[in-house]
Amino acid sequence: MLQDRVAIITGGGRGIGREHALLFASLGAKVVVNDLGGAVDGSGNDVSAAQSVVDEITAAGGQAVANTESVSSFAGAKAMVDQAVSTFGDLHVVVNNAGILRDRMLVSMSEEEFDAVIAVHLKGTFNVTRHAADYWREQAKSGTTTDRAVVNTSSGAGLHGNVGQTNYSAAKAGIAAMTVVNSMELNRYGVRANCIAPVARTRLTLQTPGMGEPMQNQLFDPENVSPLVAVLAAETCPFNGQVFSVYGGSVGIYAGWSIAESVETEDRWTVDSLAAAMDTLPRTVQVNSQMTQLAQHMTGG
Ligand SMILES: NC(=O)c1ccc[n+]([C@@H]2O[C@H](COP(=O)([O-])OP(=O)(O)OC[C@H]3O[C@@H](n4cnc5c(N)ncnc54)[C@H](O)[C@@H]3O)[C@@H](O)[C@H]2O)c1
Repeated sequence: MLQDRVAIITGGGRGIGREHALLFASLGAKVVVNDLGGAVDGSGNDVSAAQSVVDEITAAGGQAVANTESVSSFAGAKAMVDQAVSTFGDLHVVVNNAGILRDRMLVSMSEEEFDAVIAVHLKGTFNVTRHAADYWREQAKSGTTTDRAVVNTSSGAGLHGNVGQTNYSAAKAGIAAMTVVNSMELNRYGVRANCIAPVARTRLTLQTPGMGEPMQNQLFDPENVSPLVAVLAAETCPFNGQVFSVYGGSVGIYAGWSIAESVETEDRWTVDSLAAAMDTLPRTVQVNSQMTQLAQHMTGG
């Protein structure tokens, strides 16, 4: 399905990204496995993270090359795109997956903790897509138009909010919005952009207190996420500008922010008339969130 597609997978050394890289290569893709090899909080680096996945792929007869740039570096992201093109001759797919966590309640979150998470997730997604888009625009201008795909990684925390994750939720909501904008802007160059909100057992989720045991359920095997990313990356995929929920055997398409009910006036509202009209609106609106679905799955409901 991905024969000869050239793909960059950021954060491909571990967790969900590693599964994407292995699946992509097994489907014939030529993969740039990017991973800084940092700790969960983004500190440090270990080049063996990306290289070990490349070794696994090549041992199985696939094609891959390691890249250890940080996605948070604008210049590093350009080097990553350049490496894909110089090594494999083209670039068809960017999977923005690299991520870190610096969880903290808002009242104690430091500026550095906020900035670090935004830098890897939100700016990192911008950085790689931005340089890939440059290359894709040049290709389209010179008459080479073929299907290209961006697959971004959001999170239920970004789409619905999560306590202790002001930085992460803001970044992940921004990534979903960036996907929609990029899908509109880049389509003229043959590029589709979609986004996933996965749930899986990785070091990121295992560090959350109380998650260790529930996460052992096979629903949360990280390899359950990758087939969706392969579908979204394939040349024949019709989707553009969409956000998908994925875990276990469940894949859902989000309706996005959607107006549930409204109040209207023919005249201009006064504060009093608006307050009275708004009193008829529900105080909260029920949505079909990933957490709602997960709870049903876990309880067999
Ligand atoms: N695991 C889940 O349930 C879950 C849920 C929602 C979203 N996500 C998202 O999925 C993605 C993958 O997470 P995971 O759970 O597999 O975590 P993980 O920690 O296992 O993998 C993330 C990888 O990204 C790499 N990385 C971190 N910063 C980097 C940088 N600056 N440049 C390049 N690589 C970098 C890390 O070294 C690591 O190998 C993340 O974007 C995460 O936010 C995961």
